[in-house]
Amino acid sequence: MQAAVDSGIGVDVSSVYELRDALRAGVDPARVVATGPAKTHAFHAELLACGALISVDSIGELAELEACVAPSTPPPRVRILLRYRPASNRASRFGMDEAELLQCLKRLATRRTAFTFEGFHCHLGGYAWETRVQAVHELAAAVGAARELDLRPRMLDIGGGLPVRYVEGEAYDAFLPAQTPDDYRTGRVPDSYYPYGGRTDAAAWLRQLLAAPCVGGRTVAHYLNAEQLVLALEPGRSLVDQAAVTAFRVIRVKALADGRHVVFVEGSSFSACETWFGSEFLVDPVLVPADPERGADGPRFGAYIAGHSCLDDDVVTNRILDFDRRPEPGDLLVYANTAGYQMDLLENEFHRHPMPRRIVVRTNPRGAMEFSPD
Ligand SMILES: Cc1ncc(COP(=O)(O)O)c(C=O)c1O
Repeated sequence: MQAAVDSGIGVDVSSVYELRDALRAGVDPARVVATGPAKTHAFHAELLACGALISVDSIGELAELEACVAPSTPPPRVRILLRYRPASNRASRFGMDEAELLQCLKRLATRRTAFTFEGFHCHLGGYAWETRVQAVHELAAAVGAARELDLRPRMLDIGGGLPVRYVEGEAYDAFLPAQTPDDYRTGRVPDSYYPYGGRTDAAAWLRQLLAAPCVGGRTVAHYLNAEQLVLALEPGRSLVDQAAVTAFRVIRVKALADGRHVVFVEGSSFSACETWFGSEFLVDPVLVPADPERGADGPRFGAYIAGHSCLDDDVVTNRILDFDRRPEPGDLLVYANTAGYQMDLLENEFHRHPMPRRIVVRTNPRGAMEFSPD
């Protein structure tokens, strides 16, 4: 939050707690946008009080907001984006289809003293810029419909989903098809993964999006300029690309009845993992031996990683990792680039274990490293 405020960008919040954090960090409330279909009454009330932009997810939410603002409420008015559900995500529970958008627009056109309509929002799953171009194309009709009602959209907010490249594309392409069921504790290769070795980083993604042909043969950039629309983005993972490492201390290694091995670590699947939605964090950890003199002269060692969970299926990796030596108690397993969804989001108290410690490392003006608790 503080980094966002210091760099003068806005913040998107999806709970009253995130809103309070943002305001405490000193964000200009005018640069806050609230998303999500499950906003509580308390959340709405605090958004209205500070004048944040609200991405309305449904006709029902708009009606609730109308009920919140008394007819006599003086300006400032409630600032609104309408959340669209693009054709590529029709089964999603987020946003509204074209007919519902139109219904909201008509409603807003009759409530000009209470609401300021500022534009449209959508957040797509997946990481392809092509689906965002398609969404902008679809939204052009809604922009036209709004203007016909003399409403003045000024923004298209296309959410996040800008990709992070964790590994080289060639290495990733070679890795994926070479996997077999034997590489997994479960005997099953997961159906899908985050695109760990995609060819596009966030900057190239944005360039490709802006240069893509869209409405009436014009590029997205030309269309937005001609319509005087601001393109808003809500990057999450890509904002923290190359930030943070997660370290697990090895407790012990155990041989299992089927001849396999498991490495037990201090931590849980919540600390760095995607196994909880049937996928895997594919970046291998680096084994840092407690005794730096201990070389890698023994045989290679395969094992999956588990933490302190009581559920057999709740592990850190289902994937059998290929270590260049047998991990020993006190060694560290260090995962790189874990700030995006591998640390704060998944951390959780489980079996009353304390939350993992977070340490911030800074370089001071003399060039020395300083460590401080977060
Ligand atoms: C509304 C919204 N905006 C932005 C993001 C951030 O997405 P990403 O981390 O893929 O950039 C999310 C994540 O799910 C989201 O739901």
